[in-house]
Amino acid sequence: MGSSERVRPIRLGVAGLGRIGQMHAANASGRTGAVELVGVADAVEDVARSTGERLDVAWTTSFDELLAMDVEGVLIATPTGAHAGMIECAAAAGKHVLCEKPIALDLDASVRAIERARSAGVKLQVGFHRRFDPDWAAVAAKIAAGELGDVYLFRTSLRDKRSPGAGYLEGSGGFFVDVSIHDLDTARWMVGEIDEVTAIGGALSDPAFAEAGDLDNAVVTLRFTSGALGVIDNSRAAGYGYECSTEVMGSLATARIGYHRRVNVEWLTPGSQSVDWVNDFTERYPDAYLLELEGFAAAIRDDYEPAVGADDALAAFVLADACGRSFREGRPIRLEHENRGREYEIATAR
Ligand SMILES: NC(=O)c1ccc[n+]([C@@H]2O[C@H](COP(=O)([O-])OP(=O)(O)OC[C@H]3O[C@@H](n4cnc5c(N)ncnc54)[C@H](O)[C@@H]3O)[C@@H](O)[C@H]2O)c1
Repeated sequence: MGSSERVRPIRLGVAGLGRIGQMHAANASGRTGAVELVGVADAVEDVARSTGERLDVAWTTSFDELLAMDVEGVLIATPTGAHAGMIECAAAAGKHVLCEKPIALDLDASVRAIERARSAGVKLQVGFHRRFDPDWAAVAAKIAAGELGDVYLFRTSLRDKRSPGAGYLEGSGGFFVDVSIHDLDTARWMVGEIDEVTAIGGALSDPAFAEAGDLDNAVVTLRFTSGALGVIDNSRAAGYGYECSTEVMGSLATARIGYHRRVNVEWLTPGSQSVDWVNDFTERYPDAYLLELEGFAAAIRDDYEPAVGADDALAAFVLADACGRSFREGRPIRLEHENRGREYEIATAR
């Protein structure tokens, strides 16, 4: 993909070169004219060096050194617990930030980082990449234009083929904050604000999840402010592959999104038909991650607020946190939307 239009590339650094940071760094390094990758950073020296050498850019193990390079913005793809502090450092250095989801492991740290970015006047975009995917964006536009009529039902699935390792899970913030947060953001974006969440879950694939106080499968039901109803299902152990699909049913039309072919081929064998199914998010979303990066670069270059910003990050975090609370307390959690700079507050159900 990549824009064919000639634009001034935004000089970028990428911090955190793991599962997703490697993909972001590769995207920033020549897959689009919208950015120019200046440097990369990872806490592990071998990872930083080998990535820098492979992509032919400067490398460092220090985030401060990355900020000191001639970069206008940084993409933060380190473990979630490190995000908020790094946003604050980037803001202090006057660098724009594209931060992977979620912004932090708790609300206070999220709010503090957002406020630092705001008062420093730097852009802060959050990594809800699905908003940039052409399929989801097309459906969101149809909903916004009223083509579905009144929306009654929303259903979405996000299932990983296999779980990331224990090291990742420990710092992930738990299943709802790490996984369901994507679907909660999609729900708000497509249908609108959510007044109530109810979550059930289990540790079904490996007792280690339960021992760590976490889950690997969950179902969340939603009641939107409009009265529409929603269902989210999530898994870390969908053996067949990676799935991310959404259906929105309205009074006039229904939209279904869920294309999972790795290549555009159907295999026809005697008595059967099959396709190659994607294995993970990098195979499903190459366009979305690139468009997300281009969106960030455009917001910096043309000086406008990123399409997915701090308020969205905060709202999705509050909803994910409410799901955790619903699961632990075994009851619906109601959310009250107070107009405090468009943040929301959690209010307990009576
Ligand atoms: N949007 C998405 O689709 C998506 C998908 C996966 C992960 N994520 C998010 O991206 C983030 C990273 O996830 P991941 O799966 O790539 O993790 P990962 O564990 O694979 O990689 C993290 C990398 O960061 C490095 N690191 C750790 N602390 C650092 C520091 N202080 N400075 C520099 N580097 C440091 C580690 O050495 C590692 O290479 C998480 O916040 C996760 O929620 C988003």
